[in-house]
Amino acid sequence: MTEASAPILLFDSGVGGLSVLAELRAQLPDAPIIYAADNAGLPYGNKTEAQIAARVAGLLGRMTERYRPRLVCIACNTASTIALGMVREVLEVPIVGTVPAIKPAAALTETGTIGLLGTEATIRQGYVDRLEAEFAQGKRLLRHGAPGLVAAAEARLRGEPVDRAAYARAAAGLRDQPGGETIDTVVLACTHFPLVERELAEVFGPGVGFVHGAQGIARRVAHLTEGQAFVRTSPDLALFTRDGEDVAALLPALAHYGLNRMEIL
Ligand code: DGL
Repeated sequence: MTEASAPILLFDSGVGGLSVLAELRAQLPDAPIIYAADNAGLPYGNKTEAQIAARVAGLLGRMTERYRPRLVCIACNTASTIALGMVREVLEVPIVGTVPAIKPAAALTETGTIGLLGTEATIRQGYVDRLEAEFAQGKRLLRHGAPGLVAAAEARLRGEPVDRAAYARAAAGLRDQPGGETIDTVVLACTHFPLVERELAEVFGPGVGFVHGAQGIARRVAHLTEGQAFVRTSPDLALFTRDGEDVAALLPALAHYGLNRMEIL
């Protein structure tokens, strides 16, 4: 039987998974949470598949051994599209991944042109090709790798000012592709990006809607833990893989998400 104090562990390279945590809090307010950020490996988007798979599998192995979570949520599209299958094979705990929300975007678009913003590693994955083939048949899916948005979201949560040009560049990366002017729906296929959705909406202008997977992921976690008891015996934990000034600067934002304790792995 699952212990009532066993946490749900959310994993990302940085603060992106907080967009998933916000939805999870809404659905499971009593669930004890460990939010784990591999800030020593951030960003994942410019790494190779082998580097990402090795980091994610190694870290989740150590974390699950130490913290005994009841469930792991890989709140990162890059890590999920590359390493989800492999991590599921080696860990015994239930694992929920993050998949680019191409299916809901295909249902929403009226022009038939969907934009997809992700990391450079995510947009080249066969996983995305398969989602496109399965759910976006007859639509046009334009992809753009936007590492600048990862940096912008991290900076924003550290309380630093972010130049609007970072958002404009991401929008132009989609708009400037053939057919890009007809995009009416944008998939935020990186968990960092919903954290700067308002800024993105400004640069895309009216008539463009955004979709991401956070709500669906939280629903999936709630479904898999249905009937389980939840007791919080200590404040929820933020776990980092490297200490530094960046971590100290994030503490107020983490507290805002209910993470009032911090540890370095
Ligand atoms: N938040 C991550 C994602 O969902 C990746 C950001 C990065 O480390 O490049 O893809």
